[in-house]
Amino acid sequence: MASYSIAFNFEDGVTRFIECNHGEKVLDAAFRNKINLPMDCSDGVCGTCKCRAESGAYDLGDDFIDDALTTDEAAAGLVLTCQMKPSSDCVIAVPTSSVACKTGQGKFAATVAKVTPHNDAAIVLELEVDADAPAFLPGQYVNIDVPGCAQHRSYSFSSAPGERRIAFLIKKIPGGVMSSWLVRAGIGAKLELTGPLGSFYLREVRLPLLFLAGGTGLAPFLSMLEVLARENSQQEVHLIYGVTRDLDLVLVDEIEAYVKRLPNFTYATVVAETASSHPRKGWVTQHMPAEALNSGDVDVYLCGPPPMVDAVRKYFDDNAVRPNSFHYEKFTPNTAAKEAA
Ligand code: FES
Repeated sequence: MASYSIAFNFEDGVTRFIECNHGEKVLDAAFRNKINLPMDCSDGVCGTCKCRAESGAYDLGDDFIDDALTTDEAAAGLVLTCQMKPSSDCVIAVPTSSVACKTGQGKFAATVAKVTPHNDAAIVLELEVDADAPAFLPGQYVNIDVPGCAQHRSYSFSSAPGERRIAFLIKKIPGGVMSSWLVRAGIGAKLELTGPLGSFYLREVRLPLLFLAGGTGLAPFLSMLEVLARENSQQEVHLIYGVTRDLDLVLVDEIEAYVKRLPNFTYATVVAETASSHPRKGWVTQHMPAEALNSGDVDVYLCGPPPMVDAVRKYFDDNAVRPNSFHYEKFTPNTAAKEAA
């Protein structure tokens, strides 16, 4: 029997994946997987189970009343999980916390497979997952426990879903707990991971995309670009990758490779430091071509340190830029903090 992968993204950023059989209602599949989605009547009457389908194909069902789900709500992507039957993989945003649904973060173990320093500025950490390839949405992150101390660090996947070999782009911080551990750790060292997490992930692609990356905030975009390339996406995608110093520009060859794999992909690198001889200096907002904003018919994704995120938001406000959607994630490299919207 055909089945579909359903990703529930809860309000607290926790994401759980389940399999839903062809013809099965999402609410039933969730209960079968011990996830108690909000519900009351289960008959399409009360509207308690209303969620947002962010991607995928599905049948809304025809056994619900307008008070539970209006035509306008359905057109806006809202669904009743007690009625909805998927006909493809779907991503569903659940407007409550994972705890309220009696589920929580997934955990998995992995082994260090490769550690590659880049320019004394960043490290690519490759891990081999001990069990099956972890499911996640491109752009999401995990918390990695730092061995030997009661701390964790949050890193976005730079690799695409579906692989047991997963990768992360980590800013090298002198004295940082993870940077220091990675210097000491050998191939074969064990790590514990929690996730996937976060609401910063690639939504269904219907419009041109503008990706804005700051420093190691490049990581989630590498995951997204790989997914787009595997899907043979013809959509226009423009990436602006801004860094502070010349040596912070890493993995440009990997980005360049997507020019060949994605027919409508372009990118620009930008360096902020005044002493740089880079052809584009300054901030990403100074190198944002009008055509990339496409008069607002664009979905914008932004990942970088808080000052960069704030600067882009201010630029959009000051210049009345109103993209179709704007998703951003702030990260602070030397803490566990991640904040998304
Ligand atoms: Fe009442 Fe779905 S649970 S409409």
